[in-house]
Amino acid sequence: MPRRLFFLVALTACGPGPEQQPPPVFVGADLSDAPLAGLDETQQRTFARGDELFDLSLRDADGLGPLYTHAACGQCHTAAARGPGMVQKFGVVMADGHTPNPDQSRLPYGHTERPLTTAGATTPLLAPRYDPDVRISFRVGPPVMGRGYLEAVADQTLLDLEATQAARQDGVHGRANRLGAGALGRFGLKARLATLDETTADAFLSDMGITNPMFPTEPANPDGLTDDLKPGVDVGLESVTARADYVRMLAIPRRALSPDGRAAFEKARCDACHVPSLRTRADFPLAPLASVDAPVFTDLLLHDLGIGLADGLGAGDGTAGPREWRTAPLIGLRFSKRYLHDSRAGTVSEAIEAHASEGSEANDSVARYRALSDSERSLLITFVEAL
Ligand code: HEC
Ligand code: HEC
Repeated sequence: MPRRLFFLVALTACGPGPEQQPPPVFVGADLSDAPLAGLDETQQRTFARGDELFDLSLRDADGLGPLYTHAACGQCHTAAARGPGMVQKFGVVMADGHTPNPDQSRLPYGHTERPLTTAGATTPLLAPRYDPDVRISFRVGPPVMGRGYLEAVADQTLLDLEATQAARQDGVHGRANRLGAGALGRFGLKARLATLDETTADAFLSDMGITNPMFPTEPANPDGLTDDLKPGVDVGLESVTARADYVRMLAIPRRALSPDGRAAFEKARCDACHVPSLRTRADFPLAPLASVDAPVFTDLLLHDLGIGLADGLGAGDGTAGPREWRTAPLIGLRFSKRYLHDSRAGTVSEAIEAHASEGSEANDSVARYRALSDSERSLLITFVEAL
């Protein structure tokens, strides 16, 4: 992150007079990991510190492991963009290959591979290979930029979208991932986590083996280890919030979007799920994110995308089932080289085609996309690639 950028932020922060509603300003046009415009000096320091910690590889002495997948957040979310790191999930499925089997007892250590060992562990946790009853599913670290905007949207907005979609005639009927105690999920590929602090604490534990006040217990592992080389809880809450604040303060990159491309996007009804703009809460504590029309291109709801994208997992994602995914926020797509939860699509058009399969809520939209003229389709693709 070049220091020059903070200067830029400082300049744009001088802003318009009180009579004008300041529009969201996106600086750092060519960066996926630029800070929000309008951060004060303390917040800019918080961002810079969090940026460093996000990329810092933790060691044994920090409490890494005993099992883990990568030693730094940035190894799976390089420059806040997609990948390259990923997580492998697995579950026992029925004969059709995608319905979860109610009996998961042969997987006593859960559904997430933790391939690296340290701190006295000798047995990694690997997905069972060549087992016809076990389905393996990849999850590539999604982009994390612009996620502060997603946190700033009120729960009621999600519930309103859910109610509006229930009345649609074209099969689109998203639902919020209700996590219990009234919380609605919005983070993770299946919206299984409610806040960025919780998402960070969860990543610490499950990806890095770093226990923290929100998740103080090492996950069960084949060696039966209950701790690592740092006795007790590995990090304090400030380690969690430092990284979460960095993610929270990442801007949505500036875009130059063509109105014709947007018209084609709407004609194919992509906007039914990829809602172009959500209004954020007026009382969100981070001022630059309060009361803005956030161009997030998601409804934060779960949708059944059919058997084609099903991952065979029936547990671990709140109430989300094996065919359900959160509408991917179309933020920073111009930094992505591959698309979808497992990066299976190498182009935007492959990603769109993958939305269509038996039972998918997006079948009508894909049919409309196919019915567009060649020039409308290419305008749509260019539009999505520029997001
Ligand atoms: C081993 C790779 C890996 C590491 C290390 C990792 N992540 Fe992730 N991250 C992922 C994957 C995969 C997902 C999607 C998880 C899911 O839905 O199950 C994810 C999801 C997220 C999300 C939610 C994004 C969204 O669109 O909702 C955030 C925020 C995030 N990670 C932040 C972090 C932070 C902070 C750290 C370090 C403490 C971290 N990650 C470490 C792979 C990783
Ligand atoms: C029924 C809701 C729905 C509709 C309609 C829909 N999408 Fe999606 N879209 C999703 C979901 C859910 C995902 C995440 C799927 C996954 O990762 O496996 C997604 C993912 C994507 C991605 C991949 C994003 C990434 O970060 O990898 C692109 C690109 C995309 N959609 C574009 C479109 C376009 C263009 C249209 C219109 C032709 C469209 N979508 C229609 C729900 C929808």
